[in-house]
Amino acid sequence: MSQTLRDARRYEEGLETYIRPEDRPGFHLSARVGWMNDPNGFSYYMGQYHMFYQYHPYDSHWGPMHWGHAVSSDLLHWEYLPAALAPDRLYDRDGCFSGNAITLPDGRQMLMYTGIINEIGEGGKVLQVQTQNLAFGDGLDYEKYEGNPVLTEDDLPEGGSRYGFRDPKPWRAADGTYRALIANDREGHGGQMLLYRSDDAIHWAFDKVFAENHYRLGRMWECPDFFELDGRHVLLGSSQDMLPKGLEYQNGNGTFYLVGTYDEETETFTEESVHTVDYGIDFYAPQTVEAPDGRRIMVGWMQNWDTCNLHTESTPWFGQMSIPRELSLKDGILYQRPVRELDALRQNEVVVEDLVLRSEERELPGISGRMVDLEVEVSPEDPEALYRRFAIHIAKDDEFYTEVRFRRKESTLKIDRMYSGSRRAIIHQRKALVNHDDGTLKLRIILDRFSAEVFVGDGEKVMSVTIETDLSADRISFLADGNVKLNLRKYDLIP
Ligand code: FRU
Repeated sequence: MSQTLRDARRYEEGLETYIRPEDRPGFHLSARVGWMNDPNGFSYYMGQYHMFYQYHPYDSHWGPMHWGHAVSSDLLHWEYLPAALAPDRLYDRDGCFSGNAITLPDGRQMLMYTGIINEIGEGGKVLQVQTQNLAFGDGLDYEKYEGNPVLTEDDLPEGGSRYGFRDPKPWRAADGTYRALIANDREGHGGQMLLYRSDDAIHWAFDKVFAENHYRLGRMWECPDFFELDGRHVLLGSSQDMLPKGLEYQNGNGTFYLVGTYDEETETFTEESVHTVDYGIDFYAPQTVEAPDGRRIMVGWMQNWDTCNLHTESTPWFGQMSIPRELSLKDGILYQRPVRELDALRQNEVVVEDLVLRSEERELPGISGRMVDLEVEVSPEDPEALYRRFAIHIAKDDEFYTEVRFRRKESTLKIDRMYSGSRRAIIHQRKALVNHDDGTLKLRIILDRFSAEVFVGDGEKVMSVTIETDLSADRISFLADGNVKLNLRKYDLIP
């Protein structure tokens, strides 16, 4: 093991003891110490889920990337393992960027990741030369392949940039050979996803351009994932520098999913529809895993590149993942639901039936907390006199709150953390168009200390947001402008 990796492992083990578990999210994976971004190598290996992540142990801001590592049997209780990769070779000396994991036929786990070498370009600009690399391991320790890098600029199609060539997603095809999608920047076109093939998962060759941006969805694409779901195929991607279109793609660096059909013979993906993956403020670079029971489960980095460096204090940890979400597809829309494993954490059920609010704000007995699963159904009390607005305030005290607000006529749901205690002039609001039935709307809100994830309807839209509000702000209130009827079900989530 290199000294660089040994140092990182010793450092994280020491610093972790200073972080009280109650100061972290309770069931969302957060950085063991230091900084976390993208999920990496999300996989099921030797009876456990493995989650690696972009990791800078030495600071709560981004820096030379390592791979952090954690395992879980239920996707909610995570156990940290020692850092898996450190930037310790010539070809990855400035960072081990994102990638994925597969299990080889001989039982080893293989990590495929992007290695970074900084190059000084014109005007002193730092450019990152990006190559693809492998490491083999047993679920704990990983040995980098002596033949690295396995893909370099020589393996790019014409026009493909060696400075934007990253985040490999390998998989095993039905015939036992391998494919990998890799994000690439193509001059004058924006991002593209390139398909590579291999017979043994080690020797790779360029196959074809798999999907192209042509600047319709931001510029450079990142972090591809690709899988079959309910009779279609889904290509997940994250894109830099997106332009908003209506209420889609509002996050600057944002996410998208392309739904389409995939012809395995010709390896052709035909797109049918495209949407934002998460309509909140904090969600990026999602990856999926196929669970042993066949469920497709997605996790994203619950942060936003435009705001994440504005957390002022140097905390011992920064960055968390979203709740793992079960995916399904209906009419070209990706439905997301918190994994069903979460049900086992539910305690202290409080049910409220047919409560009427008349242009008022109410707190309800037993409904409070910062680790909460809250199901809400709001409907008009009188169909002849439709209400205008309905809102829920969470993480609330006399001074602070975060608001989830539904405007019936506009059919918009807004999440707003303006008054959550943030002292930064960063984006605090996001709006999404939602389906409702003449003012009847179903929401499920998952709170885990420093975040809220709002699932709309049966999960057809999700809005995720992180908050810094002091944990003593644990009240929840319900507000109506007009008359509404409420049905609520609330649980504490106790990991
Ligand atoms: C996405 C990303 C990836 C890259 C990694 C670097 O958030 O920019 O493309 O591999 O983060 O940390």
